[in-house]
Parts: sequence; structure tokens; C-alpha cells
Amino acid sequence: MLAHKHLVPPTDPSGIDLVNAEWKMEYDIIVTLQEQGHKVELLGVDDDLLKIHQTLARLQPNIVFNLMESFDGVTTFDQNLVSYLELLRVPYTGCNPRGMTLARDKSLSKKLLAYHKIPVPEFFVVRPGQKVAVPKNLTFPLIVKSLFYEASVGISQASVVKNINQLKNRVQFIHNTLETSAIVEQFIDGRELYVGVIGNEKLQVLPVWEMVFRRMPDNRWRIATEQIKSSAKHQKKYGVTTYQARLPNKTIDHIQHLAKQVYQVLSLSGYARIDLRLDRQGRVFVLEANPNPNLSYGEDFAESAEKAKISYEDLLERIIQLGLKWDPERTS
Ligand SMILES: Nc1ncnc2c1ncn2[C@@H]1O[C@H](COP(=O)(O)OP(=O)(O)O)[C@@H](O)[C@H]1O
Ligand SMILES: [Mg+2]
Repeated sequence: MLAHKHLVPPTDPSGIDLVNAEWKMEYDIIVTLQEQGHKVELLGVDDDLLKIHQTLARLQPNIVFNLMESFDGVTTFDQNLVSYLELLRVPYTGCNPRGMTLARDKSLSKKLLAYHKIPVPEFFVVRPGQKVAVPKNLTFPLIVKSLFYEASVGISQASVVKNINQLKNRVQFIHNTLETSAIVEQFIDGRELYVGVIGNEKLQVLPVWEMVFRRMPDNRWRIATEQIKSSAKHQKKYGVTTYQARLPNKTIDHIQHLAKQVYQVLSLSGYARIDLRLDRQGRVFVLEANPNPNLSYGEDFAESAEKAKISYEDLLERIIQLGLKWDPERTS
């Protein structure tokens, strides 16, 4: 297993609150794989490519369980690391480099999806130093995000803007604090939906999951901010929970079909979660695709797999099998 150094679980975790441990996913996966009879060696890395090379040469693993989301502190380097594994000809779990690259860029991915007639919010990009000019097809409220960051980094209530001044300020904020381009999207007021997909060529779509904000005051936007995603305290405060979405079968079929298409158009492999929104008129929009989503036991992805009768053990086993089957030389 390749994991971030600071997320390597302690050798003896007794007495530690596992549920809130930062390294819960790493721990859950290692323990489960070991219980299934796998021999797991864990390598914690930050920026040491040589160490990876040496360890792989020494251990000659059947597969690398890849849990790296950045390299040397650079989030976009996760794709380079997977490319490196391909060059070393070592099988790995999760998404291939091309899929990671396409899904990461929230503008490029939307352009590809739009070409395939998959509904996405209208948007425009503002590079650092560029002036903000709102195209005619967009109307306030809009939402401002980083073009590349994930896990709602940079997303707060102030991300949703209602006029040009708020928009300019928030774009400036993204440029200054995250040092990336900003993407400005039509704000889709409605329900927040997540769909897991597993596979390389033949895909299985998991049940549609919904995030609800039961105690969110009416004067706040019902969005998955960084604060909400990262803090159990805030989830509790605003009554944020996730569960299988209650929707008409026709809508479920449509959403699952879209999720599959997104996965294919963006060349994803292994496992991924597609984020969507359903607006008040019943229209579905794809927000983004997340290759290698959180695999903790009890988290959305594993829970929705469980609903589809795929146990946590089977889920991990399938992910390993898909990694072993992935052919890096395939060109289509
Ligand atoms: N166009 C949009 N309309 C409404 N809400 C949005 C929109 N884009 C993002 N959000 C909200 O912000 C959250 C994070 O945005 P997302 O594009 O999924 O980026 P991240 O990679 O940070 O998860 C979403 O889960 C949703 O709640
Ligand atoms: Mg998201």
C-alpha cells in the first residue's frame, strides 16, 4: 500500500478513537485485506520517489494499493505518480493517469461532457490576472471554485455570489489563497447527489446517494462546504447526513446512466464517485467526477456498495482485481 506518510496508522492503535482518526481509511483497508488473507506492506511517502522504486524492487508486490492524493504537496502530481507506476510496470488500484488528468480539471472535464450532451452547469474560467466578465448565458447566483482543488477546498458560504462585486472578491480570493485559476459556474439550486461507479470496461453503478442538510438555516446555501466535509461538529450542527436517495425509478435510471457515461467519457478506471445536482425543475446536472474516492468503511462509497450487496471485503477485492486487469498500454 502506498499512503501519505502522515496517514500511516500507528502499529498499536488500541486506545485511539478510530472513528475520527485521520488515517481511518488506510487502517480499514489494511485490516480488512489482512483478514482476507492478503499480505500487506505499507509504505508512507511524501516526496521520495527513490524510496518507492527501491521498495517495489525489493518487495515485488502483485499490486500497489494506491491511496496517494498528491506528491510532494502538489495535488496534481497524483496522476504523475500513477504514470510512474505504469512505467515501472507495477499494477495499481484505482484510476489511470489519463482519467485522473481529465477529471481533475473542472473546465476541461465539463467541456468533454458537454460535447457528449451530458448536462453540466454553464461556466467560465478566470485565470490569475484576468478581468472578470460574466458571459450572457449565466445569471446570478453563481458559485466560484478552484479549477483544480478537491474535497471542497476553498468552498464556503461566500463561494455563492449574488452580484458582480461578490463575484470579483471571491475570484480574487481563489487566486490569492489557492493560487489556481477560478471556475465560475451557474449555481444549481437543488438536491446534492453522489453516485459510485466501479469497473474498467464493464461498469457497475452503485445506488444514488444523497446529502441532506436538515438543520441548515434558510439564509444559508445548502452546499457541501469545506467546513461541512471536514468537520463532524458542523455536520451535526447543520443536520448533514447521507443516505440512499428517494427518487422515482425513472430519475434513478437517468442519473445512473449519466454517471456511467461520465465515467466513460473521462476515461476513468477502477472506482470513482460522480457528483451531481437535481434542480427544482427536475433537471440533473453533473458537477464533477472524483477518481479514487474515500474508501473508509462506513463512508458513502462503501455504504452505497453495501446497499448493492457488495460487502466491504468484496469491494476491496474487486478493486484489486480491476487493478490487476488494467492494461496501461491500451490506447482506446
Ligand atoms: N454549480 C454548482 N451549483 C450548486 N452547488 C455547487 C456547484 N458546484 C459545486 N457546488 C457545491 O460545492 C460542492 C463542491 O463542489 P465540487 O465541484 O464537487 O468540488 P470538490 O472537488 O471540491 O468536491 C458540491 O458538492 C456542491 O455542494
Ligand atoms: Mg465534489
